[in-house]
Amino acid sequence: ALPARVRIHEVGARDGLQNEKATVPTEIKAAFIRRLAEAGLTTIEATSFVHPKWVPQLSDAEQLFPLIDDLSVDLPVLVPNERGLDRALLFGARRVAVFASATESFAKANLNRTVDEALAMFEPVVARAKAEGVHVRGYLSMCFGDPWEGPVPVPQVARVCRALLDMGCDELSLGDTIGVATPGHVLALLTALTEARVPTEVLGVHFHDTYGQALANTLAALQYGVTTVDASAGGLGGCPYAKSATGNLATEDLVWMLQGLGVDTGVDLGRLVATSVWMAAHLGRPSPSRTVRALSHQ
Ligand code: HMG
Ligand code: MG
Repeated sequence: ALPARVRIHEVGARDGLQNEKATVPTEIKAAFIRRLAEAGLTTIEATSFVHPKWVPQLSDAEQLFPLIDDLSVDLPVLVPNERGLDRALLFGARRVAVFASATESFAKANLNRTVDEALAMFEPVVARAKAEGVHVRGYLSMCFGDPWEGPVPVPQVARVCRALLDMGCDELSLGDTIGVATPGHVLALLTALTEARVPTEVLGVHFHDTYGQALANTLAALQYGVTTVDASAGGLGGCPYAKSATGNLATEDLVWMLQGLGVDTGVDLGRLVATSVWMAAHLGRPSPSRTVRALSHQ
């Protein structure tokens, strides 16, 4: 059985633009987010309050926020530590996300911490956010495979999921950072998480499309009962600290599949495609999304 409605967590403005070589002007980012909202997306991850030297592409978070805070959609932002949370709260963020790793190699590369040191860094962030009534998402990267360590054992993923929930995260996003998952692995992980008493209702899935499996993996997760899916408009995305990470599942590909399945998303596919075509023109290369290509004259 499939869910009647799927909540799309749009990550193009964050996961997508953090990985662009050229820094996109702040006004273009704001216009992108505005167009995504007009296309019917209701959760639009806007930017990251991380160290500006680590992700220079998003170092304009302070300048961007005032250009979009009139929008009546959820605008979650990434915060790695208390300094990031301070910055986000100053701009009135009502949803934040911490981002953990299931593997030591990526924790070191992305956060300059061990897995447990990173969890310790997030603990006061989550506690303070919750005390302020701010919603907290816990990302977990490298849930399937890691570019340095290879396949990631399911119990290792379950342990960090448990830790993120125990510290108070409202929802989790299971990241296939380098896009190596296949549907059987997705089912195995979701089953193990159920056995570890992680409620399926709090889980979202976050697939990168390196091997063209993101849509198949998403369908497997939906059939299991997951109802939150991360996707990026036009298939933008990747992580500068993960070798071989490519774009996320394209939101257009997801919406096309869900429309065919009769699952409601609230998204106007025509407006979304037009937005991705417009963004592709700014970035100077066509969108990798098959659906964007099919529905436009790129
Ligand atoms: P560090 O070098 O260990 O930093 O980096 P530190 O804690 O030692 O602090 C050093 C200095 O940085 C201090 O300044 C801090 O104040 C400052 P000083 O006292 O020396 O003058 N600082 C900051 N400044 C502004 N904003 C901040 C901040 N934090 C510290 N938030 C750190 C540790 C976590 C900061 C760094 O590693 C970092 O920013 N990493 C972010 C990496 C990142 O954003 N990666 C991409 C997102 S994750 C992803 O894409 C995966 C995902 O999509 C899911 C998936 O696909 O799997 C989510
Ligand atoms: Mg990602």
